[in-house]
Amino acid sequence: MATSLANTTFFSKTCSLFIHTNSLKRFAFRVPFSSTSTSTSPLPLKKKWRPPAASALELGGVKMAKDDIVRDDPTNNVPDTIFTKLGMQLHKRNQHPIGILKNAIYEYFDSNYPNKFNKFDDLCPIVSVKQNFDDVLVPADHVSRSYNDTYYVDSQTVLRCHTSAHQAELLKEHNHFLVTGDVYRRDSIDSTHYPVFHQMEGVSIFYPDEWGAAGLDATEYAAKDLKRCLEGLARHLFGAVEMRWVDTYFPFTNPSYELEIFFKENWLEVLGCGVTEQEILKRSGKSNNVAWAFGLGLERLAMVLFDIPDIRLFWSSDERFTSQFLQGQLGIKFKPFSKYPPCYKDMSFWINESFTENNLCEVVRGVAGDLVEEVRLIDNFTNEKGMTSHCYRIAYRSMECSLTDEEINELQWNVREQVQSKLNVVLR
Ligand code: PHE
Repeated sequence: MATSLANTTFFSKTCSLFIHTNSLKRFAFRVPFSSTSTSTSPLPLKKKWRPPAASALELGGVKMAKDDIVRDDPTNNVPDTIFTKLGMQLHKRNQHPIGILKNAIYEYFDSNYPNKFNKFDDLCPIVSVKQNFDDVLVPADHVSRSYNDTYYVDSQTVLRCHTSAHQAELLKEHNHFLVTGDVYRRDSIDSTHYPVFHQMEGVSIFYPDEWGAAGLDATEYAAKDLKRCLEGLARHLFGAVEMRWVDTYFPFTNPSYELEIFFKENWLEVLGCGVTEQEILKRSGKSNNVAWAFGLGLERLAMVLFDIPDIRLFWSSDERFTSQFLQGQLGIKFKPFSKYPPCYKDMSFWINESFTENNLCEVVRGVAGDLVEEVRLIDNFTNEKGMTSHCYRIAYRSMECSLTDEEINELQWNVREQVQSKLNVVLR
């Protein structure tokens, strides 16, 4: 298991069943989702969900009217703070760390596989449940389908939680492709997790004469090619590093692997990948082929490559952040422009059956936005009546300015009020 980058919760949460979902391990579940461990019902919203200000979104070359996207559906659990991120496409900015990293990966594929990979970076992030889950064989009871983990626009439509959502459709038309895009996951809050982040997916298919000529079995051939390609990519980005392959599980690949690199004294998980399940190829009309696929999280890598200490910075429009990347190249090291102190506030409450940490974090973010740095469970006990109390410590810190006591007290006051009314918990 790789160790953490910034803190011990980077890859997996020690205190819960859940694997931290910004990690690629999200799909690495063998155990079916159990209804006792997460809530399957949407966050109860007292207020009707209001669409954000933009009247139309232009995505994937198609102009979508707001009314086409937003349906006043009771299953909708997308808050305004998330909806406003749609269409921002950080990965298309050449002077932003996410865009720079995308371009560096493109460079690797262009120079090693000239004209081979078709590139997609403006596919609409609003996809069907079928595209996001069914098409890539995610089991019906898989945890990632729950309302606790995924943003649903309505019961059949989600904000894609991975770029794998496009695999099946693209496979019908293309043999080799890269898909970059923003992906959305309900999650807890800390310096390396944000409910919107970016992934790049790669898929490549092979024909019988290729593995025949190599004298290998189809799966072996694809796995070997995959590992060679991705080791080369890791060297392109990180230089001469020590690497290791770790077996894992994804519903859409078999065998499945993670690539880890030894970076700054830690094993860092770089990506998830594997040999595409034959069923996916078959449904895309490619039953005589074999394929590999990978998915990598761009923020994770960019934080390491550019020394960016907090994931919220990617969304900052502060010139002191944006101006540092004008050269548009890898190799830039971010110089923190401020270190305003965090301010901690604790709150305790008796939880109810439907309480989840993701729902709590959504409420906190709804009030404090990017001023919240971390929400951490610091105490948990059950009394003799069977009532369970949680105490959470909220760290408030602005990346851009210092916050006054009054501002923080007001935020905390609003958080308390909203946590009580939206989550129906009893404050202590
Ligand atoms: N979609 C996976 C994730 O987000 C990553 C992945 C992509 C794994 C392709 C294997 C193949 O966790």
